[in-house]
Amino acid sequence: MSKGSYSFTTPIYYVNARPHLGTAYTTVAADTVARYQRMNGYDVAFVTGLDEHGQKIAETAEINNMAPLAWCDSMEPPFREAWDMLNITYTDFVRTTEPRHAKTVQKFWNDLYEKGFLYKGVYEGWYCLPDETSYAESDLEKDEEGTLICPECKRPVQKTSTEENWFFKLSDFQDKLLAFYEENPHFIRPETRRNEIVSFVSRGLKDLSISRSTFDWGVPLPFDEGHVAYVWADALLAYITGIGYGNPDRATEFDAFWPMQYHFVGKDILRFHCVIWPAMLMAAGLPIANTVFAHGFLLTKGEKMSKSKGNALSPADLISVFGVDAYRYYFMSDVQFGNDGSISLERMVQVYNADLANTWGNLCSRVFNMTGKYFEGKVPLAPDFAADNPLKEIADSLYEEYDACLGLVDFTGAVNAVQKLASRVNLYVEDSAPWNLAKKEEDAPALAAVIYNALEAIRIIALFMAPFMPNTSAEVFRRLNLGDITAVTDIETACTWGGLLANNTVETGEALFPRLDVEAIDFSAE
Ligand code: MSP
Repeated sequence: MSKGSYSFTTPIYYVNARPHLGTAYTTVAADTVARYQRMNGYDVAFVTGLDEHGQKIAETAEINNMAPLAWCDSMEPPFREAWDMLNITYTDFVRTTEPRHAKTVQKFWNDLYEKGFLYKGVYEGWYCLPDETSYAESDLEKDEEGTLICPECKRPVQKTSTEENWFFKLSDFQDKLLAFYEENPHFIRPETRRNEIVSFVSRGLKDLSISRSTFDWGVPLPFDEGHVAYVWADALLAYITGIGYGNPDRATEFDAFWPMQYHFVGKDILRFHCVIWPAMLMAAGLPIANTVFAHGFLLTKGEKMSKSKGNALSPADLISVFGVDAYRYYFMSDVQFGNDGSISLERMVQVYNADLANTWGNLCSRVFNMTGKYFEGKVPLAPDFAADNPLKEIADSLYEEYDACLGLVDFTGAVNAVQKLASRVNLYVEDSAPWNLAKKEEDAPALAAVIYNALEAIRIIALFMAPFMPNTSAEVFRRLNLGDITAVTDIETACTWGGLLANNTVETGEALFPRLDVEAIDFSAE
């Protein structure tokens, strides 16, 4: 029986750059949540997609000598292929150029227009095109030559045109937003980000220009056809398009999945999600997500990795060396979600060898091998559970610890909880020395107990590793002859000690994670 619904989003990615480690990071995190909450009994909605409108994309298309839509069409396959390669199980992929999304944008803004939240006016200020963000002059910084630059991305800004635009009365929402943050202390996480936003809103809010009339690459506003929606006034709404907003055929889906548990975002787009978006929803009379969680940046040699800085490695480069599962595992375990994280090839090899080759992979190899050698490849009869077994106690408390961590998107904490069991099983095997027990007839029951307990712990570890490393867990389940792990929808019951049945066949198979040597890794194909 379903525990209810669990829904969340990644940002929808600009199509001016191909997917890279940064965009893959949020997407893998969301997928880890999706996979876990499905195993935990929830119906999941996981919305991702592409942000295809606005001046920046129009200019990118022009630079590439293509019509905007043709450019966007050419960028869809690289994203879909990257997410397929990473085993991402999104439930909807919204392109903002789809007609269904234009309907959302028009319905939503028309409603706010009719409710009196919009007015026409002129905005004079500065604009950062790469970030598609407006700034007042007092917010800007100067570079060494005295050029005005964006306080976020440090690139030059341009003066906004003096066209008439439609404005959303964002300034009306200052008190309501502050009250909302107060009543919902978990709305912005981590805590430091919350403080940032509270102090930003406390300083006062300016109304937001939500339309453009100097170019037409966007959704036309129904109440003034010469205007298209500002790219953020369009993009944020993809979150509700992705669960069927305004679509009568998907009305029950929208009711079930809105409001969402999480919007996962990078820290650079926090204001849009924690200020503009909730104000838009308040104006529309729609509820607001439980939490906007801002993760940090992945840094290579201390810099934010990005295409423009030329230091963006592609996920495919790393996957060709480490495999998909180890890729997912590294980013989810080694970089604490919420903090910036320095990533390097050296560190990735180190984590791979320590956690995957030496701990989890080695555990499976040695225990499967011994099952083959001592029990003809069959699970021995389960011992008396009350017998001395240091593993059961750890396994019994694993669900509670892991579930608490994953509920808070503390991926590192969840992984550590599982690794604690894996390390303990390795130690248990070492201490029990089955190879000695196998020498004496009278130790046969003890030998059976050790192998059974180790195999059972492996089954449980595979369950909890599955959201992070779906292929490996599926393979461990296959070798243990346990069927399809993705069919598990009640992990709490599935992880009960003793679930592994005697006489089940166990296949030894190849090493799951062969050791890697950093010196031997060759990226010359890059
Ligand atoms: N299109 C907007 C989002 C609209 S959501 C309604 C956008 N797109 S983006 O493609 O530029 O960035 C998407 C996300 O990728 C951002 O959350 C950003 O923080 C993240 N990352 C881009 N580079 C990153 C790193 N090097 N590290 C981690 N994430 C970073 O913004």
